[in-house]
Amino acid sequence: MIKSIKKIHDITQWLLHSSKENDAGLILDLYNFYAQFQTEEDNEGDITLKNGIALSKKHASDCIKDYKRTACFLRGIYKAISTCLQKFPNTEINILYAGCGPYAPLLLPLLSFFESKYIKATLIDINQSSIVVVKKIISELGYKTYISDITIADATQYKHNKNIPLHIIIAETMFHALTKEPQVAITQNLAPQLIEGGILIPEEISITLGYSFFSKEPFLNQYNNTYHVANLINQNTKRKFVETLFSLTKSENKDIVDSSYFESKWYPIPKNYEETPDVCIYTYIKVFDTFQLQYEDSLITNPYCLTSLYNLQKQSKFKIKYSIENIPNWEITVS
Ligand SMILES: C[S@@+](CC[C@H](N)C(=O)[O-])C[C@H]1O[C@@H](n2cnc3c(N)ncnc32)[C@H](O)[C@@H]1O
Repeated sequence: MIKSIKKIHDITQWLLHSSKENDAGLILDLYNFYAQFQTEEDNEGDITLKNGIALSKKHASDCIKDYKRTACFLRGIYKAISTCLQKFPNTEINILYAGCGPYAPLLLPLLSFFESKYIKATLIDINQSSIVVVKKIISELGYKTYISDITIADATQYKHNKNIPLHIIIAETMFHALTKEPQVAITQNLAPQLIEGGILIPEEISITLGYSFFSKEPFLNQYNNTYHVANLINQNTKRKFVETLFSLTKSENKDIVDSSYFESKWYPIPKNYEETPDVCIYTYIKVFDTFQLQYEDSLITNPYCLTSLYNLQKQSKFKIKYSIENIPNWEITVS
């Protein structure tokens, strides 16, 4: 495959303008395009941080293959940049991409659709091997005029230069039910650094509690490099949604933003739960505007099972706690 801006531009152009049925093939084209830039050495594996795991270069590069996710983010971010250009006319739009990985795949493919005098990107990742690769790609493709900075930094601590207004922040450092990776801590640190009217991507991540028959739930399955929705036949599987626990947005993180945990109220153990015996967490992502990921669309929105109600049989109520300390995770308390 040819290593040129034209090639990546053409693939992305197709993606932005063709129907979703073509997403899997086009995202594979994008992955193969990027794979040409991989370097052999990967000195760092996953890195364990104070608020979650930062994926290794190899694992981060694989994220692109979660094709509905990648396609949805690219379409949403294209719209977000276009919206920002209209909202702030004749202004240089500054974009911070936190956790860009080796390919910066949610932004680099879009740059050539805009004039470099209006778009300036800062790319950060904590993984040095990823930064080495992304620098190489930018240099080889001639994207330098679009770039303000590429830095190894911890996005949970990073402070953007106060003299440069931040219009858009992109961060996809998450796994389903916001477990494992540091999305929440990164959002807590970065969202307040946006200028008034700036855009956080994803615009919203919402976390909902529900009861279901977990083993019947449709979910995106990854096997041997192929992605397909398992249990599709059960698309109408019975779910009883209890309530949205919290949403992560640029401003309305009242339940979680100032603390390192979220704690729910007490819920009575339901009386009849044969049809929906599992306590589940559902993740919904609004990337931007109408570009959204539903529960079984991607590895990062797959349903997550906390426990079976059969384990709680002798109890009368339970509450759940989400903590971002060490490795973000959920726990259940019963009474
Ligand atoms: C799930 S991967 C996603 C990579 C790429 N953004 C994509 O969407 O395909 C998350 C990336 O965030 C980086 N990361 C995780 N925690 C970080 C932190 N605290 N500061 C900077 N980068 C971080 C990881 O090293 C990894 O490259």
